Amino acid sequence: MQKCSPIGIFDSGYGGLTVFRSIADQLPEYSYIYLGDNARSPYGDHSFDTIYKYTLECVEWLFAQGCELVILACNTASAKALRTIQQKDLPVKYPDRRVLGVIRPTAEVIGSFTSSGHVGVMGTRGTVNSQSYLLEINKFFPEVKVYQQTCPMWVPLIENNEHLQSGADFFINEYCNRLIEQSAEIDCVLLACTHYPLLMPKLKMILPDYINILTQGEIVAKSMVDYLGRHPEIETKLSKDGLKSFYTSGDPLAFDAQASIFFGEELNSGKM
Ligand code: DGL
Repeated sequence: MQKCSPIGIFDSGYGGLTVFRSIADQLPEYSYIYLGDNARSPYGDHSFDTIYKYTLECVEWLFAQGCELVILACNTASAKALRTIQQKDLPVKYPDRRVLGVIRPTAEVIGSFTSSGHVGVMGTRGTVNSQSYLLEINKFFPEVKVYQQTCPMWVPLIENNEHLQSGADFFINEYCNRLIEQSAEIDCVLLACTHYPLLMPKLKMILPDYINILTQGEIVAKSMVDYLGRHPEIETKLSKDGLKSFYTSGDPLAFDAQASIFFGEELNSGKM
């Protein structure tokens, strides 16, 4: 069988690079194509129809580059577009290709990160309003209580590299306080947006020490290792050249200038 398919990784912008970093560290032998839809990000406040349309266009572009497997490294796209793509588009147009998201792998393990059984979820309006985390966590850990907080200013601050400036502090404090006020028993906060790990230095200072702040990179990477082990029909099609390429729908020079903050190494992207 021909082995020439890179794994596609998609996000609305830069955030998915935090997940890609962990995936590439866990599975360095595979080849990858990253696509950031920077020209149309942030996705967080867009309607269901818009997020679905944008995400499908990007997934189809990755399919056209030869990807058999695409990871939506974006909670907003996973919440708003994944199910429709999996149930409506793939069976009809691409029955042999797979698209996976980041919400289910996170929901599958979140119960093991809380002792109190009270978990906070911070995400974009799109992710929070979709109720996806409430539904998915309830399937695996019905006893866990979930408190959600929308953080609409965080992605714009991060995409503009303003998140570590003092001007960002107001909104970082504000959303953390609104979450904590919902329950004094929250002992685990999930950063349910792949951009938010960039706020970690500030969140560690703001949130009480007893709170476990959870990011998704390692969780999604571990779940991919498991998925590939269980799906040889996909795994055998993947190229194992260890190559990584990066594309953006926006300006590649602007992408490259920012991307290393998320990915931890310099890179050269191309135009989608
Ligand atoms: N990184 C995305 C997520 O995980 C981005 C959100 C956005 O574009 O608003 O939700």
